[in-house]
Amino acid sequence: MDRHLTDSLEYARFLPRNACLVMDIGSGAGLPGIPLAIALPDVRFVLSDRSARRVDLLERAVRVIGLENAEVVRRDLHSLDGEVELAVARAVLQPAQWLDVALKALIPGGILVVGVGHGSETPQSSTGVLVERHDFESGVLDRSATILTIQKCDG
Ligand SMILES: C[S@@+](CC[C@H](N)C(=O)[O-])C[C@H]1O[C@@H](n2cnc3c(N)ncnc32)[C@H](O)[C@@H]1O
Repeated sequence: MDRHLTDSLEYARFLPRNACLVMDIGSGAGLPGIPLAIALPDVRFVLSDRSARRVDLLERAVRVIGLENAEVVRRDLHSLDGEVELAVARAVLQPAQWLDVALKALIPGGILVVGVGHGSETPQSSTGVLVERHDFESGVLDRSATILTIQKCDG
């Protein structure tokens, strides 16, 4: 419960208050997207994964739960191109790999909120992207966790 569901809900604190559409990249079995969609019924979620098997599972989960604010798409994250305003992702890529994804996938001003290994190195902000690291010690969740917010600079 703590390890997956509460952990997923931690992403909510990094979503802008006026968020209306969030993509979950590499959603797998639906984390963090499904717990967030349940907690934030006014926000629309796109649960995406490149695996057909995962997409089948996600479609079934959304149908069984009756989650009206979530849709499922089969998509490789490397095909995203200047179209994402706000996305979450958990346990999908190594921290440094997210910088190139942010530059390519996000619109200017867009934000990626990504969960990475707690002990992992923080990639440096560089031309075009601003990186912030947020650590949660194990008193908050049952294990330590790290979330990075990566914003593509405007212009
Ligand atoms: C370790 S699982 C994590 C799943 C889920 N986010 C979680 O926290 O439980 C990684 C997921 O990322 C997906 N994935 C890996 N590379 C991807 C890519 N290039 N494009 C889209 N999905 C990808 C995999 O299919 C898998 O479902």
